[in-house]
Amino acid sequence: MTETKAPIVSMRGITKAYGGVQALKGVDLDIYLGEVHALVGDNAAGKSSLIKTLAGAVRPDAGTITFEGREVRIEDPRDAKALGIETVYQDLALADNLDVPANVFLGREITRRPPFGWFLDNRAMEERARGLLARLKINIPNVRLKVRAMSGGQRQSIAIARCVCFNARVIILDEPTAALGVQETGKVYALIREMRDQGCGVLLISHNLNHVFENCDRITVMKTGSLVGSRRVEETTQDEVVKMIVSGTADPPRAAGRPQPLAQPG
Ligand SMILES: Nc1ncnc2c1ncn2[C@@H]1O[C@H](COP(=O)(O)OP(=O)(O)O)[C@@H](O)[C@H]1O
Ligand SMILES: [Mg+2]
Repeated sequence: MTETKAPIVSMRGITKAYGGVQALKGVDLDIYLGEVHALVGDNAAGKSSLIKTLAGAVRPDAGTITFEGREVRIEDPRDAKALGIETVYQDLALADNLDVPANVFLGREITRRPPFGWFLDNRAMEERARGLLARLKINIPNVRLKVRAMSGGQRQSIAIARCVCFNARVIILDEPTAALGVQETGKVYALIREMRDQGCGVLLISHNLNHVFENCDRITVMKTGSLVGSRRVEETTQDEVVKMIVSGTADPPRAAGRPQPLAQPG
């Protein structure tokens, strides 16, 4: 997938204080369609606060957000959704006692109008849900099971599939695999890459740099409310990213094809 050159989302100077805590001190971030962008950094770096301003869950004190080149106001989650920005929260917000189609269509059920009033078109929802899972290569043999009975990875996949179904252009995930085992983590990242390949822009928070380097295209490091730096994975290393996370400083990005200057002795 070739990346679109202009970012779909540009956040500039995003600032947020909670009482005396300056959680975001003027952060810039760009999101591109066809890319998985990882946000990394120690606890209290401001990662969750930053994605919440994009999701409409937190209102910044200052800063601007442009979407497709146009400045937008995202004042609540509905504003974000209207732009095609969907968020998968850690608690997933699935209805445990419902099956897969009901969860995928939760809040915007397909209805038909027969002569004597509205009813849910369960068959249409099941067919659409099956088609969606197939398109995203998610393996859930029995979609009629209540999601309570499903594994953490299957549940996370359903929550992500739900975003796609809402025609998301940008998908935000806060630690999508934090509670998952190795195999399930692999499947969830496969799904995230699939959504990228289908043209979405993905922004995710992760603490696992191995996962980030295996699955992501771009890495942004934050520390104590500030941006440290942003790198494409092929222009950085895990060592450099660890150094950025720990020190809160970054060397200038390496220019492709130019040899690195040698460190000065002493
Ligand atoms: N709702 C809140 N009220 C008060 N302080 C908050 C709130 N949310 C986050 N903070 C503080 O803001 C800072 C950044 O938090 P957060 O965005 O959650 O960072 P991260 O996700 O990188 O761990 C932390 O010091 C945190 O304690
Ligand atoms: Mg967080």
